[in-house]
Order: sequence, then C-alpha cells, then structure tokens
Amino acid sequence: MPLRLAVLKETADGEKRVAATPETIKKYLGLGAAVAVEAGAGEAASIFDQAFVDAGATVGDRVATLAGADIVLGVQGPDPAALTGAKTGAWIVAGLNPFGDRPRIDAYAAAGFEALAMEFMPRITRAQSMDILSSQSNLAGYKAVLDAASEYGRAFPMMMTAAGTVSAARLFVMGVGVAGLQAIATGRRLGAQVSATDVRSATKEQILSLGAKPIFVENVAGIEGEGSGGYAAEMSPEYQKAQADLVSSHIAKQDIVITTALIPGRPAPRLISDAQIATMRAGSVIVDLAVEQGGNVEGARLGEIVERHGVKIVGHRNVPSRLAADSSALFARNLFNFLSAFWDKDGGLPVLDAEIGDAVRLTQSGQVVNARLLS
Ligand code: NAI
Repeated sequence: MPLRLAVLKETADGEKRVAATPETIKKYLGLGAAVAVEAGAGEAASIFDQAFVDAGATVGDRVATLAGADIVLGVQGPDPAALTGAKTGAWIVAGLNPFGDRPRIDAYAAAGFEALAMEFMPRITRAQSMDILSSQSNLAGYKAVLDAASEYGRAFPMMMTAAGTVSAARLFVMGVGVAGLQAIATGRRLGAQVSATDVRSATKEQILSLGAKPIFVENVAGIEGEGSGGYAAEMSPEYQKAQADLVSSHIAKQDIVITTALIPGRPAPRLISDAQIATMRAGSVIVDLAVEQGGNVEGARLGEIVERHGVKIVGHRNVPSRLAADSSALFARNLFNFLSAFWDKDGGLPVLDAEIGDAVRLTQSGQVVNARLLS
C-alpha cells in the first residue's frame, strides 16, 4: 500500500491558501505516495480541481479524501473533530498555532493523531527550505508595502513633472526579520526613502546592504537584543525607554510605517503609541503585521483599517493569504521539502531525526510531547 496523503480544503475564515500544488503532488507521486485532494481545495489560490487531477491526484469530498490517510496536509490545523477516516496515528502536518490554540493540540493528542507544527521548524541551515515562517513572512513583508501604498493618498517615488515635483515617501520599517527585510527591499523598489530599526544589532549591516538607513538605540545597557535561535529577546526597561524616545523623534517625519516585531511565544512588543501617531502627518499609513499576535501599534484592530489622528492603521488578517497563489506554492514546497527529506522508501511514515522531529512534533501516542508546550 502506498503512503496516502490527504490535502484538505481550508476551513478557517478568509484562508485562501492550499497545502499542496500540482507541482508538489507530482513530486509526492514520484516518491511512491498516493495523494487525495478535497474538491475545491485550491480554488481560492487559482488552482482548480482539474489541475490536481492532471497532476495525478484523486479529487473527492472530505470523507473520500480522508479515507485511510496516513498524512493530512493543511495550511492551518484542521478541526480535530472533522478528521474521521484518517488512520489512527496519522500525521497532521500544518501550521498549528501551538501557543494560540492549545485546546486543538490537546484534541489531536486525544484522537491519537501525531501533530507536527511546521512553525516550530528549527532555524538551522538545512531546514531553511522547510521553513513556513520564512516563506510566508517574506511575502507578507512585500504585500504590507503594497497595502500601504494603496491606502496612501500620495506617491512613493519622487517624480519631477511639468506641474512640479512630487516628493518621495519616507518609509520606516520596525523589526527587520524576514518580513522586514522584504518590506525594505520592496519600499526601495517603489522609490521610497527607507529607514529601519530592530533590537538585534546584527540587522544593521543588512539594512545598510539594502540601501536603507539604520535607526538604532546606542549606548544603552543590554543593547544586544539577540535571544535564542536568532530570535529577539524581550528588552530591558532602559532599552525600551531609549527606543521609545528615538522612535518618537523619527516617526513624526515618516509617511509610512511597517511594523513586524515579534518575540516567539509572547505577545508582540508595543512599539508605537497613540501619542506618537498623533505626531504623524495626516494621510500617513501604518501597517501592523504583528496584529494577529496582539499588535505593535496602539489602536490597531485585527482585520480592520482604522483611522487615528488622520493616520490609517492597517491590520489585515493573514497577510500571506492575500497572495494565495504564491504563498501556497512556497508553503507546499516547504511541506514537500520537509517530508521528502525523511522519506521512508518502504512506504512507511517518514522517519524524522531528533533535531527536527523533537522540535516540530507536538503530540504522539495520545500525549502532548513537545518541550515548548510542556515547560
Ligand atoms: P520574527 O518574525 O520573530 O520577528 C521580526 C523581527 O522583529 C525580528 O528581526 C526581531 O528581532 C524584531 N523585534 C522583536 N522585538 C523588537 C522590538 N522591540 N523592536 C524592534 N524590533 C523587534 O523574526 P523572523 O523574521 O522570524 O527572523 C528571526 C531571525 O531568524 C532572523 O535573524 C532571521 O535571519 C533568522 N532566520 C533563520 C532561518 C534559518 O536559518 N533557517 C530562517 C528564517 C529566519
């Protein structure tokens, strides 16, 4: 019996992505697996059922898709109660939001599924091609700048016209991880004057190399904001005060601000206050990419564009899904790269090594087993 993969139609509100594409399905078949796709799974990402059939998958309703499944692929975690038909011990491979949706993880354990959270992929060189956070953040950073541009009533590039000069927009990126770097690059391509800040001083070089201006707190204790695994740590009160002062003077001169700052497992740090927003020019735009983790910007609302002091604060939900065709293509490759790296050529479930397996595995044999969830 070949290993059976099930690709479900996403059920979360507004989720347009799909966890496999015709390209990755062909590759799974090439490894000897059978792939079943729930009808309509790719439609919102412009992939129609026929394209899955042409790639060699079977397409059917949810029950047929799940029947005998060894591995269920998702973008977000499927409802544990709606997995009837999948084998006991089947893998659920998706972005599972382990800190934000613990009851669902417990339910996977109780139902005997092995849940593998792709956002827990370790940030090591060999896992880069499996990293959904990177692939999706990259597109989110790009889209955030386009969203800002479309809400902004002025142009980004400087333009010299017969009717006079249009000045370049000033764009400030706060948080220079994967999304922030792409926001800087995109802002530069559109002709904005770009500056950026982060707590990790290693990002200074990266900002300069993209042709943007670094804005950094200097001479404050605890300045090296690097936590573990390349992520940020929470900063000292002295640092936070110095950062707030620096940001206050800088932000008053900005037209566009993109915030992306996150600290793993914690609410997003608050970087912009209402009082700071009040100093910005009317018509300015702030995009808060951290809004789903509590937001970097005071007053940002999940899924809404709100206006404060004449400044628009954009808080779109699930920004990668706004580019569903590309984000699905990258997400699907991340999953394929992960599973194929550990493929069992005898048709069993992949055999993970400890470094990656222990990081991503949340549940096994009816128990929650992940150290990050148990501590
Ligand atoms: P993230 O999404 O966790 O955070 C975004 C950015 O916000 C980070 O640069 C962080 O330092 C910054 N930040 C946090 N608190 C802040 C504050 N108070 N003020 C300003 N900025 C703040 O980060 P992401 O994009 O996941 O990247 C984290 C690191 O991991 C980067 O160094 C990246 O290069 C590295 N990485 C490594 C990979 C690998 O080797 N497989 C793959 C992807 C990223």
